[in-house]
Amino acid sequence: MKIINTVKRLRCALDEMRAAGNSIGFVPTMGALHEGHLSLVKQCAAESDVCIVSIFVNPAQFNDPKDLASYPRTVEADCAMLESAGCSIVFVPAVEEIYPAPDLREFDLGSLVEVMEGRFRPGHFQGVAKVVSRLFDIVGPCRAYFGLKDFQQLAVIRRLVDRLGMSVGIVACPIVREADGLAMSSRNMRLSAEERAAAPEIFRALRHSRELAPSSSLADVVAFVGAALASEPLLRLEYFEIVHPVTLMPLRAWSDSDEAGAVGCIAVYCGEVRLIDNITYRN
Ligand code: PAF
Repeated sequence: MKIINTVKRLRCALDEMRAAGNSIGFVPTMGALHEGHLSLVKQCAAESDVCIVSIFVNPAQFNDPKDLASYPRTVEADCAMLESAGCSIVFVPAVEEIYPAPDLREFDLGSLVEVMEGRFRPGHFQGVAKVVSRLFDIVGPCRAYFGLKDFQQLAVIRRLVDRLGMSVGIVACPIVREADGLAMSSRNMRLSAEERAAAPEIFRALRHSRELAPSSSLADVVAFVGAALASEPLLRLEYFEIVHPVTLMPLRAWSDSDEAGAVGCIAVYCGEVRLIDNITYRN
């Protein structure tokens, strides 16, 4: 496995690989890797001749400077994990490599970036779009792999690729959970022992809500999740919305959706740490 820090060297290495007829798969990350990331890397390595992983904590997508400063950085440990997961090249650029000049582009991503995460993290998805479009341009992958935990991000990236007419295939990979149901996230390592013990209530509430869903109204399901979260003093619900999986428009009743079904998206503060998760409802 090679570790490459500059765009120029990465492009040279990829040109050679492409000339030899290799297909290129790509997993963009911000590092602090866990089993969730490794599941993307393993799938990418199994489906592509060459698996490229980027580790870049993208300043453009953080609307809170404290969040950017405290984002975990564990590059050495990340590289060791990537080697055994089948990664061929890790790209670890400095900020100037990705943004040699201020990136002033604004992408037309419609209402997808105005709801949920977009409402609470203004500018976040424009920042994600900037880095992902730049990385796709540098790497030129056939396929890129993203986790379904960031459900809204996935919808935004599909829209971005569509708007820019890029030919990269976007592959959605299942959420990987701890044994107690907590969705794996790089942020989990910032939880205190008490917060870590409280955090699984998020998925417990979501799972329970899915059991209620067939016989309860959508409003009752939303109210149930709100009440379940309120019963855990270390958790503070930021939002829970049940939305259409493609448009991300909030649903008021199950009948507002179509065969695509519905997805419940949640953001919760556990102490200072902001966690997100989601669950699919079948109707
Ligand atoms: O999901 C993430 O880790 C990031 O948002 C991504 C896609 C790597 C862009 O920085």
